[in-house]
Amino acid sequence: MKLKNRVGIVTGAGGGIGRAIAQAFIEEGARVAALDINLDSLLSLEQEVGARSSQLMICASDATALESIRDTVDLVMSKWGQIDILVNNVGGGIGTHSDSTLVDEGWDATVALNLTGCFCFIQAVADPMRRQKYGRVVNISSSGGRYRSNTGAANIAYAAAKGGVLQLTRTVAHALGRDGITVNAIAPGLVMTQAGRKEYEMLAPALRERVLRETPLGYFCEPSEIASIAVFLASSDASYVTGATILANGGWCTS
Ligand SMILES: NC(=O)c1ccc[n+]([C@@H]2O[C@H](COP(=O)([O-])OP(=O)(O)OC[C@H]3O[C@@H](n4cnc5c(N)ncnc54)[C@H](O)[C@@H]3O)[C@@H](O)[C@H]2O)c1
Repeated sequence: MKLKNRVGIVTGAGGGIGRAIAQAFIEEGARVAALDINLDSLLSLEQEVGARSSQLMICASDATALESIRDTVDLVMSKWGQIDILVNNVGGGIGTHSDSTLVDEGWDATVALNLTGCFCFIQAVADPMRRQKYGRVVNISSSGGRYRSNTGAANIAYAAAKGGVLQLTRTVAHALGRDGITVNAIAPGLVMTQAGRKEYEMLAPALRERVLRETPLGYFCEPSEIASIAVFLASSDASYVTGATILANGGWCTS
C-alpha cells in the first residue's frame, strides 16, 4: 500500500474526481478528510467506502472560506495529529462567459473557487507540514489553464484561474522544497464526471467528433485515471518530483 500511515485532505471529495481520489487514497491505506460543501455527497461517499469508513472523516465545509479552511485543518490535526497530503481539487467554472465580448460575470467567484481557496488551503497546511518536514500538495488545475479549450468553451475566468494554479504550484514548490514538501499539479482534459459529462453533452455532435478525433487516445478520461496520478504524486514514488504539472488529456494538446 502506497499511502499507509498517511493522512490526507481532499477538497471537493463528494464530486467526480475528488471522490475517486479519496477512494483511491483509502484503498492505498491513507486516512482521508473528505471536504465538500454538499453534505449529501459526502454521506454517499461514506456509504461507498463501507467497511473502511474508519479511514474517512467527512467535513461539510466551504473550501473558499478562510475560517472553515482553518477549522478543517485544526479538526484533522486534533483527530489524527498529522497532515501529510493536501489535494486541492475544488473548482469549476461559474457564471456566464464569452471570449468575444470579454463579459465574465463570474470572475470573482471563479477565481475564489479555483485559485484563492487553493492558496489559502496550502497556507493552512504549511505549518503542520513544515513541522513534520514532510508534505505532498497536489493541485487539480486543467488543460484549459495551459491551452485554449478544444471544445470551444471559453470561460476566461476559469482558464485564468487554472493557469494561476499552475504558477502557484511552481512558486510554492520553490518556497516549501527545503521543508520536505512537494507541490505538483494535474491538468486534466475532459473527464467524465457529472460536470464533465454535462459539458460534453452540450457540444454539437460534429464538435464532439472533432474533439475525439483530435484526442490521440480516442476517448475521454475517467475520474479513476486522474486518481491514479494523484496517488503517484502523493506517494514516495514521486519523492523527487516538485513544481511539475502532469497533463492528463489523452494527448489532445499534441494534435
Ligand atoms: N471534469 C472535467 O472535465 C475537468 C477537466 C479539467 C479539470 N477539472 C477540475 O477538476 C476538479 C474536479 O472537477 P469535477 O468534474 O470532479 O467536479 P464536480 O462538480 O463533479 O465536483 C466538484 C465538487 O466540489 C464541491 N464544491 C463546489 N464548491 C465547493 C466549495 N466552495 N467548497 C467545498 N466543496 C465545493 C461540489 O459540491 C462537488 O462535489 C475541478 O477543479 C475542475 O475544475 C475537471
